[in-house]
Amino acid sequence: MNWKLAYAIGFHPWEETDLDFFQSLASLLEREEQGREPPLGRALDIGTGSAIWGIELAKRGWEVSGVDFVAKALNRGRERVQAAGVEMKIVQGDVTRLSEAEVGSGFRLILDTGTFHDLDIEQQHGMARSVDALATQDATVILLCWPRRIRPLIRGVSREEIETAFSGWEITDVEPSFFKLPPLLEWVLRPDEHWYRLRRA
Ligand SMILES: C[S@@+](CC[C@H](N)C(=O)[O-])C[C@H]1O[C@@H](n2cnc3c(N)ncnc32)[C@H](O)[C@@H]1O
Repeated sequence: MNWKLAYAIGFHPWEETDLDFFQSLASLLEREEQGREPPLGRALDIGTGSAIWGIELAKRGWEVSGVDFVAKALNRGRERVQAAGVEMKIVQGDVTRLSEAEVGSGFRLILDTGTFHDLDIEQQHGMARSVDALATQDATVILLCWPRRIRPLIRGVSREEIETAFSGWEITDVEPSFFKLPPLLEWVLRPDEHWYRLRRA
C-alpha cells in the first residue's frame, strides 16, 4: 500500500472500525492490564497513523509513544491527541529501523494495528528486530494481520512469517478481530484479520 498517497487522498477505511472490533481489542488489552493500576507502563503504537489506538491506550493509563512515517497521518494524530486531552508522544520514523527514531525504550506493550502485515520479508525482520530491542523482558506484542494471499492493496502475512521474524517470541493467542471494511471493499478484499499476541519465548 502506498500509505502516503492513501492519507493524501483521504483513503483510510481502517479508521472506521465498529464496536465488535473495539471490544476485541479491549479484551486483549484487559489481559495485559489485569491486576494493575495506572500508570500501566510504556506502550508503543507501531504505525500509529492518526493515533486512534494510541489515544485509546493513553486513556486506559498507558504512557504511549506512537510512530509512523507519514507526516499527514501524524498531523491528524496530533490534532486528535489534543482534542482527546491525553498525553501521547508522536514520532515520525520508520518502524523497520526504530533505532534511528527517538521513540524511547522499555515498552511493556507493543501494539500494531495493520503495519507489519504489509511489510516485505526484509522489512518484517527489521521491524521485529526493532521491537525486540525496545521491548521489556515481560513485554507483549499485539499484531493485527491479514492472512497472506493474493489480494490487492495489502500483502498479508502467514503465521510462519510472523514466527520467523519474531524468532525470540512465541505466538500465545490468535483471535478474530471482527474488523470490517465498508461493504464494497469488504467484498473485494475480505480482510479476515486476526490478532496475534506474542510473548518472549
Ligand atoms: C492500516 S494503517 C493503520 C494505522 C493505525 N494503526 C490505525 O489503526 O488507524 C498502517 C499504518 O502503518 C504505517 N506504516 C507502514 N509502513 C511503515 C513504516 N515502514 N514505518 C512507519 N510507518 C509505517 C502507515 O503509514 C499507516 O499509518
